[in-house]
Amino acid sequence: MNDETLMDVRELEVQFRARRGVARAVDGVSLEWRRGEVLGVVGESGSGKSTLARAMLGLVPSAAGAVELEGRAVNGKASLGELRRRVQMIFQDPYQTLNPRQRVGTIVTEPLIVQGVPRGEHEARVRRALEDVGLDPERFGGRYPYQLSGGQRQRVAIAAALVLEPEGLICDEPVSMLDASVRTQILAVLGELKRRRGLGLVFITHDLSLAWALCDRIAVMYLGRVVEQGSAPDVIERPQHPYTQALVTAVPVPSAGGGGRRELLSGELPDATAVPSGCRFHPRCPRRFGPCDRVDPPLIATGGSQLAACLLHDPALATEVQAARGD
Ligand SMILES: Nc1ncnc2c1ncn2[C@@H]1O[C@H](COP(=O)(O)OP(=O)(O)OP(=O)(O)O)[C@@H](O)[C@H]1O
Ligand SMILES: [Mg+2]
Repeated sequence: MNDETLMDVRELEVQFRARRGVARAVDGVSLEWRRGEVLGVVGESGSGKSTLARAMLGLVPSAAGAVELEGRAVNGKASLGELRRRVQMIFQDPYQTLNPRQRVGTIVTEPLIVQGVPRGEHEARVRRALEDVGLDPERFGGRYPYQLSGGQRQRVAIAAALVLEPEGLICDEPVSMLDASVRTQILAVLGELKRRRGLGLVFITHDLSLAWALCDRIAVMYLGRVVEQGSAPDVIERPQHPYTQALVTAVPVPSAGGGGRRELLSGELPDATAVPSGCRFHPRCPRRFGPCDRVDPPLIATGGSQLAACLLHDPALATEVQAARGD
């Protein structure tokens, strides 16, 4: 943690009871989210992105680990209340989060009432929040959610989060249900909020090219663990973990050195109730070698801004790595 840190996640674990046993949805995640930073969280479906986001705000209980706000542990009612005031969350489907019986003006005012903000401040703050997401308060304040398009509904959800003037916004696939043109508009709204309000974002997405365009740093999740992290250009243009390499080659990312060999993932689909021993990616890894089925790699510095949880980068194994490559 340093002065720049907004939130710190340390060795966080979240487990669910599932039919086939215990799902280790988040399985030892450590992550730093800096003030004003757009931190991307990417990974396949089921890798634990949403669970991580919810656990960061105490919306699901954690089995182990800690969440800190500016270096202070969030572990009681008071600290959780403060966290949820300063860090808000946006979901994929705004229709589910907006009360269908409330008008837009009421929806955006509600958080102020809940937080006990003096009534005299309500109108100006609601107006500013709506204007910040590009909705004219006069035109939209009296409408109901069903009278809005998908993009307008997501703007209302963002306004309702902004009205408390948070420092961070955790966005869980906020544009994945929207048409391409609307998607661009919502991304522009988020980008503008970062620039104008200095708002930090956690941006959860399946879409690597989106993460590359929007994020300052990226964390790649696989089966409940962060397996690679670093600056967005480093991670996308020079991925160091074979999982990230497979993700990058599977999608067209303009500057990812295109034309490369498509190294599609094979092997069993990951199952959080049966996390493989050793490196959790080894059953699907095209580059696995000797110790991968026994040794669970920590995040290892690979140069520049990057860390990768891969034994190919373990200096102590350099000889085996060379032998496996046939160097
Ligand atoms: N409430 C729950 N009960 C049981 N298992 C759950 C629950 N929520 C999530 N899981 C399991 O935890 C793992 C991680 O799920 P999560 O929804 O966090 O993944 P995700 O990365 O957000 O996926 P997606 O990209 O599909 O949204 C999955 O194996 C999922 O089945
Ligand atoms: Mg999800």
